Amino acid sequence: MLKDKNIVLGITGGIAAYKVVDVVSRLKKQGANVEVIMTEHATEFVSPLTFQTLSINSIHVNMFAEPKSYDVEHIALAEGADTFLIAPATANIIGKVANGIADDLLTTTIMATKARVIFAPAMNTNMYSNPIVQQNMAYLTDLGYEFIDPGTGILACQTYGTGRMAEPIDIVNYLNDSFYERDLEGKKIVVTAGPTIEPIDPVRYITNHSSGKMGYSIAAEAHRRGAETILITGPTHLEEPKGIRVIRINSTLDMFNAVQKEFDSCDILIKAAAPSDYRSKTVDSQKIKKDGSPDGPTIELIKNPDIAAHFGNIKEDRIVVGFAAETDNLVEYAKKKLNEKNLDFIVANDISKDGAGFKSDTNIVAIIGQEGVITDYPILKKSQIAGIILDRIRNLLDTRS
Ligand code: PMT
Repeated sequence: MLKDKNIVLGITGGIAAYKVVDVVSRLKKQGANVEVIMTEHATEFVSPLTFQTLSINSIHVNMFAEPKSYDVEHIALAEGADTFLIAPATANIIGKVANGIADDLLTTTIMATKARVIFAPAMNTNMYSNPIVQQNMAYLTDLGYEFIDPGTGILACQTYGTGRMAEPIDIVNYLNDSFYERDLEGKKIVVTAGPTIEPIDPVRYITNHSSGKMGYSIAAEAHRRGAETILITGPTHLEEPKGIRVIRINSTLDMFNAVQKEFDSCDILIKAAAPSDYRSKTVDSQKIKKDGSPDGPTIELIKNPDIAAHFGNIKEDRIVVGFAAETDNLVEYAKKKLNEKNLDFIVANDISKDGAGFKSDTNIVAIIGQEGVITDYPILKKSQIAGIILDRIRNLLDTRS
């Protein structure tokens, strides 16, 4: 998404300027053109030469420097920006912009741009919580300026609190996401992901190999495309996607209850999870001991509710999408599930293939719609498959409106 995008990066005078070196490097690796404007104070923290070397562009500092071209510099930068990032953003720059002050190259350029302006604040906790700063940020937010929340931790002033600039990777991800078409804005999407676990006793449980990657990819993509996204996830080792409400559950019954709470108000339910179909009829409160018999204990299993089938059959005008994880007769079994669960379409994956199904970053799927048409896809990243699923949902929404 960042390839060939013009990012104008305003760097102000804070120690977090050193972290922006990494931001520039990451933006360049993704193919963006980066034009850096530094305030005089910023140059005290990191040399312009560092940013010049990394951005492969000359650095803009002085409003009245010998012009490098016949363009009026701040207007050319302002008009050329696809996105304007200010990082680190001090209390001073936020205050100046909020009050319409344009007294140097950076502030005049911000004033002249029509591009999206995104601040990554970095300052001492007391400064950050100061009502003046908070009020300035609230005012700018109302006007459409954006803020990437700072983190909490040990700050340069050796205090602990909120005010540490967001991590470079999160800043770059935020910029990347800002270029997505927000074609699912106004829609509420519930995505289920990962395995469920069904306890047998305090130390043992039944589960499966789902890593959650497929469902998390769908949730992240839905969020980028502007949907209010709720991720209901079984236990995974994945990092929680930012900006998404995450509901953690353990068992299939927990997942059923969590979906039930969200279902009435949702527009779309995507069942990418691998819920356990069965649970142990009894759960021992003590660890089951070896009983000395050669066969060991017998665990009696009972059926869990089928979440996709339950909500598919009461969906009314909501869209419900399911997956089918199969090792044989992929299309035949997937079609059966599509009908039994009353899904709008099903994403079938043959989990016995290399690069498909559980754990991998890729998947190989066939999508089968209500009309019975089967579309086969080659091996793709799970994030790409997430995009294909959401495109298909967008098309369904369009044909219904
Ligand atoms: O998590 P990853 O490691 O990335 O792996 C991805 C995946 C293989 C888990 C995913 O691509 C996938 O196929 N998910 C569905 C797994 C599954 O449970 O398939 P199934 O064929 O048993 O179930 C069919 C559908 O019914 C699925 O949408 C499933 O979520 C749903 N289901 C199943 C059982 C149950 N009790 N309730 C359900 O809602």
